Amino acid sequence: MSRATATDLVYLIAIVGFILALIGLSSPKHARLGNLAGAAGMLLAVAWTFSLPAVYGQTKNLILIIVAVVIGTVIGVPAARMVKMTAMPQMVAIFNGVGGGAAALVSVTEFISLPGKQIAIYKICEILFGVLVGAVSFAGSAVAFAKLQELMTGRPITYPGQQPINAGVGLAIVAVLLATILTANTALLVVVLVLSLALGVIFVLPIGGADVPVLISLLNSFTGLAVAASGFTLNSNLLIVAGTLVGASGILLTRMMSHAMGRSIGNILFSAFGSVITATGADGGPDGRSVRTGTAEDIGVLLAYARKVAIVPGYGLAVAQAQHVARELADLLTARGVEVYYAIHPVAGRMPGHMNVLLAEANVPYEQLVEMDDANPEMATTDVALVVGANDTVNPAAKNTPGSPIYGMPIINVDQATNIVFLKRSMRPGFAGIDNELLYDPKTTMLFGDAKDTLTALVAAVRSV
Ligand code: TAP
Repeated sequence: MSRATATDLVYLIAIVGFILALIGLSSPKHARLGNLAGAAGMLLAVAWTFSLPAVYGQTKNLILIIVAVVIGTVIGVPAARMVKMTAMPQMVAIFNGVGGGAAALVSVTEFISLPGKQIAIYKICEILFGVLVGAVSFAGSAVAFAKLQELMTGRPITYPGQQPINAGVGLAIVAVLLATILTANTALLVVVLVLSLALGVIFVLPIGGADVPVLISLLNSFTGLAVAASGFTLNSNLLIVAGTLVGASGILLTRMMSHAMGRSIGNILFSAFGSVITATGADGGPDGRSVRTGTAEDIGVLLAYARKVAIVPGYGLAVAQAQHVARELADLLTARGVEVYYAIHPVAGRMPGHMNVLLAEANVPYEQLVEMDDANPEMATTDVALVVGANDTVNPAAKNTPGSPIYGMPIINVDQATNIVFLKRSMRPGFAGIDNELLYDPKTTMLFGDAKDTLTALVAAVRSV
């Protein structure tokens, strides 16, 4: 077998690993296995690539590559191990950004190293696509990271003349792209690179921090496309397939996230959602209404004597890192004969599958995790809906207040349960920045405090019943 055939074969096996990874990641049950399959495919592909004469035969390049791998490993491994679950979106943003940047640089260096300037037009187009999309992804991801990491304001940034400026940059890019195709001039390519970086920044500035996770998924897909373009430039089937898989799955994930938020991708990218704070943050509502608060002991009794309890987790569960004590409470109630299930909203938290990952960390059995569409029919027969750090994902405004930023988003219908208990620290709103009428509902009881503390108090209360 020739080396070229062996390379194709090895890359094909690696690609199967990537596809198995996507299949595995579609369910928490086999997500770990899927991750392993993808990592094994990548390890195989990288190891084989190192064995190719074009790499190990070039001592200077090899040393540079090894230095880059060591630097990447020294930064990447501890960062991935130490990152808090709530900081995962910005971690994904920065990792994604460097991928896009790398794809853009590969395209630039290929352009510079092409012999003479007799380059086929399709080749220049591939290279320009890689530079444009990779640089937009790099710069956009860097701004997304800065927003989520609170290095800059998370609010949409708007300024006078924003739309004409954006349109101007877009038109300038089109003009320089055409000029580069016609002249194959390296200086023009550099202008494309700089303008694309600028486009990445101005594209992301007006997007509110609240919508940034969806944006990151879109930028992730851009990086995949840029990688696929560099695959064409380098004649690498592996990069073409891997990049296309990332591009396609990124777009699908973006669609699923925006669908679960009840909004179109266009609305997320081009409107200033998440910037309006209307709640007061006091114990009463904006119009001075009061809410009913309870003690852990009262709520403990309510839970202990319930027939069916739904635990509805949200972003606050992640902030409080209360997943283990939530499971302790669920186990305690189950041992008393109470039917307990976790009702999972698809965009609860701040990243896809956030609640699933969090609860899996606490070894909550998968059977107890009930997706929104299956949980909602259960609500009418549920005695207590225990809402732990969730807000928007249970807010009835999504159903009955046209004009609300979340109108149209499917929610978990905790309003249909016999009793509702909210565990949160204050009356502050959630991610969308809007009040939740359900907090003032006569069948709602508030237990204020950090979710870990209040759940711990509930465990003690149920134990003492
Ligand atoms: P949110 O609506 O963001 O509400 C979270 C609530 O948790 C807040 O009201 C907060 O109230 C409470 N909280 C925060 N820290 C807490 C702590 N330590 N202990 C107890 N409570 C705490 O959460 P959700 O219901 O999960 O909704 C998610 C939102 O994020 C949706 O609007 C969704 O569209 C958006 N989003 C999700 C994603 C993905 S993919 N998941 C991506 C982008 C956007 P206090 O401050 O009063 O405690």
